[in-house]
Amino acid sequence: MIGVFDSGFGGLTVLSSLLERLPQYDYLYLADNARAPYGARSFDVIHQFTKEAVDHLFRQGCQVVILACNTASARALRTLQIQWLPHAWPDRRILGVVRPSVEALAGLPPGSIPGETPASAVSGRLAVVATTGTVASDSFRLELQKFAPGLDLRQQACPLWVPLVENGEIEGTGAEFYVRKYLAPLFDTESPPTRLLLGCTHYPLLLPLIRKFVPPGTEILSQGPLVAERFADWITRHPEFSDRLGTGQMRIWQTTDDSTWFSRQAGALINVPVTATQVRLCQID
Ligand code: DGL
Repeated sequence: MIGVFDSGFGGLTVLSSLLERLPQYDYLYLADNARAPYGARSFDVIHQFTKEAVDHLFRQGCQVVILACNTASARALRTLQIQWLPHAWPDRRILGVVRPSVEALAGLPPGSIPGETPASAVSGRLAVVATTGTVASDSFRLELQKFAPGLDLRQQACPLWVPLVENGEIEGTGAEFYVRKYLAPLFDTESPPTRLLLGCTHYPLLLPLIRKFVPPGTEILSQGPLVAERFADWITRHPEFSDRLGTGQMRIWQTTDDSTWFSRQAGALINVPVTATQVRLCQID
């Protein structure tokens, strides 16, 4: 199976693009709703929660896990890949969403290599909205600067957007107030961004509201389609993984919180029937 992990409902926006682009594979979606949101938690806590989730997915038989969560990708991916995976699960892979998103934000083709891509290829006034943890990690700026040193990236933390989505408040005056509040610093200026990345997988679920406050000259990038496209490219370049993936179109849904609630909310958000089970993640060292 392909494991897709998020702290909550946001990763469904990536999963639904994967199901469209690569429907043949088996998928296990895991949401750690009981401990969401991750966004404002410390580095150590996000790292530990992410490790427990990925370990769980590997134990269920996932060969590759996509962290469909920017906060986990920014805070935990590299250390898990370098310090944990080689001895704990040497034949499995963990992929994140930051690098492919930065390629798209910079207007570069998939698989672009820093140093081989001229900095002049990166164009536009670029901005990202993300959780407090992702912005604090500076991961998007650091990745972008590998391609274009010195290029400015405007970053805006939107701490209340994930709680809005987790509570099903994706429309109405309350949600609208907080969407406008966090976009205003980026757009109430004379030179607004030309490209805006939604750097949290929950945010596309607020897209109708976000569009209301973003001028038509700004391109909005959601991560689902671009991550699915780049994963499709990765899987064709790694037959040793594609050969191990089931192709029975199995869909498994797991949550650490109440499964009836999750099934109802998730099904409504991505418009597919969802029957989830509740799981408990084991503490690991
Ligand atoms: N979907 C997660 C992300 O992409 C949200 C993190 C959170 O739980 O705050 O960052």
